[in-house]
Amino acid sequence: MFVQSVVIRDYSFRDYKEVLQIDKEVFEPRNPAYDLYIYLTYGNDLIVADVGNRIAGYIVTMDVDRFTGKIISFAVRKEYRRMGIGSMLLQTAIERIKARGKKKIMLEVRVSNQAAQRLYKKFGFRITDVIHGYYSDGEDAYIMVLPLSEQ
Ligand SMILES: CC(C)(COP(=O)(O)OP(=O)(O)OC[C@H]1O[C@@H](n2cnc3c(N)ncnc32)[C@H](O)[C@@H]1OP(=O)(O)O)[C@@H](O)C(=O)NCCC(=O)NCCS
Repeated sequence: MFVQSVVIRDYSFRDYKEVLQIDKEVFEPRNPAYDLYIYLTYGNDLIVADVGNRIAGYIVTMDVDRFTGKIISFAVRKEYRRMGIGSMLLQTAIERIKARGKKKIMLEVRVSNQAAQRLYKKFGFRITDVIHGYYSDGEDAYIMVLPLSEQ
């Protein structure tokens, strides 16, 4: 598929249905309505990738404390993957967290999720810890951290 132009922009209430749909497609069997409630309640920044007629992906970040930002959800629709859209969303999220004065960004990722880990490593994230049985199906999570101060 050829994507003519991708606009990375703030989430608007008009995107609600599409973000819900992406969450359902990508994170089943999680409850997308509950997920979106969490993003809108606890998220400090919800960014979408708009490809004109639809939303191809989104990323949600929150401020954990004075020094730490966190990526709490991140997804690109299957048919729009490997086109650089995830990188564009992640780059924008990092810049915005940095602009909020944070010194590091952390996230949790499934140990089996090589695709996401590869992307995060490209941006300088490193695995710092493992949380055993973090996910509801019992899978472990890696904690990955990107220090911002020395960049
Ligand atoms: C992770 C995700 C958001 C990446 O989105 P994307 O738009 O495909 O990412 P990009 O096209 O910007 O990929 C950038 C780089 O990441 C790595 N990467 C992405 N997908 C990969 C895959 N399936 N296998 C290996 N490396 C991959 C590659 O290094 C890639 O660069 P390249 O295409 O030049 O080789 C997407 O795969 C996704 O939605 N996955 C399911 C949800 C998820 O895992 N979210 C993160 C939870 S922590």
